[in-house]
Amino acid sequence: MEQFIYKVLPAVRMMLSKTGLHVVSFFEMQEPSIMKQILKKDSMPLRLLNCFIVEEKLTLEEKLILIQKKISSGTVFHCICFEGFGCVLAGRNARTIFNLRDALNTLLNNDIEASDYIFRTLSQENDKGANSPVLNKIAVITGGAQGFGEGIARDLFAKQANVVIVDTNKDKGTALAEDLNRTHGTANKALYIHCDISDELSVKNMIGEVVKNFGGIDIFISNAGILRAGDLDELDVSTFELMTKINYSGYFICAKYASKIMKQQYHYAPEYFMDIIQINSKSGLRGSNKNYAYAGAKFGGIGLTQSFALELMPYNIKVNSICPGNFLDGPLWADPKNGLFVQYLHAGKVPGAKTIDDVKKYYENQVPAKRGCRVDDVMKAIYYVIDQNYETGQAIPVTGGQVMLK
Ligand SMILES: NC(=O)c1ccc[n+]([C@@H]2O[C@H](COP(=O)([O-])OP(=O)(O)OC[C@H]3O[C@@H](n4cnc5c(N)ncnc54)[C@H](O)[C@@H]3O)[C@@H](O)[C@H]2O)c1
Repeated sequence: MEQFIYKVLPAVRMMLSKTGLHVVSFFEMQEPSIMKQILKKDSMPLRLLNCFIVEEKLTLEEKLILIQKKISSGTVFHCICFEGFGCVLAGRNARTIFNLRDALNTLLNNDIEASDYIFRTLSQENDKGANSPVLNKIAVITGGAQGFGEGIARDLFAKQANVVIVDTNKDKGTALAEDLNRTHGTANKALYIHCDISDELSVKNMIGEVVKNFGGIDIFISNAGILRAGDLDELDVSTFELMTKINYSGYFICAKYASKIMKQQYHYAPEYFMDIIQINSKSGLRGSNKNYAYAGAKFGGIGLTQSFALELMPYNIKVNSICPGNFLDGPLWADPKNGLFVQYLHAGKVPGAKTIDDVKKYYENQVPAKRGCRVDDVMKAIYYVIDQNYETGQAIPVTGGQVMLK
């Protein structure tokens, strides 16, 4: 099954995407008799789709050659059934594809009338946002449940990308995906997947889930991060190691598994460009006083970015870091209970500060632009990177002038 997910689904998606990006969603159905029953002509709603069956006895390579042949014949397929595995549903409108999956489920529960109704009401295309640079792309955002990650997910979704919110915070991640699907979506889909990006198995499973649901990955945003500051006497080794595990190793693990899918996509669409984008920090460009565990991991992240970029550009996978300044309106700083403003005020870190506003002003005054970094500042850098086909391995500062490159 793992080979099927990592090799077949991204390949099929790119074969189908020659005329515009498709979503390819997998519906597991290992029992061949059920599949044959579903595909029986005239009796079932699936007759409304162009569909064909791939025999189980074929090798993986033979399967892909057969599908390539069928697709090259010019027929637009919305359903490919793999004996022994399940059905792959494909189209340009993710919402339709997810509804199709629901309809198949309904069908399997023998409610033919209800499923027929769902099939007949489906629309096929995602034509809104035709000028969007991310139309129908599949974007994965780690740490997407709040802060910068949430803002990035919202903006990409508003521009018609399908977004996968990856986070350890299930409540916030689920609520955000529901909100996007309910109130903001037209033809695209948002999905929450629980994952700890510092755990290899968790990341591997998450990438598998993304591909089962959408068929591939076009943009991977490695954004999840944590901050534990402290001087050399304060910080213990376990805290240092936790910071390194999430802020540094987590980026490596995510790039390792996301790039497997992207490489397979490249193989079937060698003219197509993809992006791995790390949300780094100004602390990845300049040392940070009593914050070395964070700065060290972020400096290391730029080393990974440059090296991944060299390795992956031959596959049209660009790898870049974006280095924002302090997101002073975000939850890390502004949370009224645990935010850094409250912590710094109580710790007396800012001389003379009596209120949270005093602390905020102190940090704003360190920025030539006299304000904190915001999501829309970061988005401009993200869209620049996505738009480029001739730039990779860069660390782009978005710091209001606080940190300047040599
Ligand atoms: N806030 C800032 O001022 C600032 C400035 C520059 C760069 N950054 C960077 O931006 C990124 C996001 O920061 P933020 O301020 O939005 O943080 P945040 O704390 O508001 O959100 C981080 C999210 O990551 C999730 N997360 C944490 N550990 C995880 C793990 N192991 N696996 C999966 N998800 C995990 C959290 O649940 C949370 O939803 C980080 O990489 C951070 O270093 C932040």
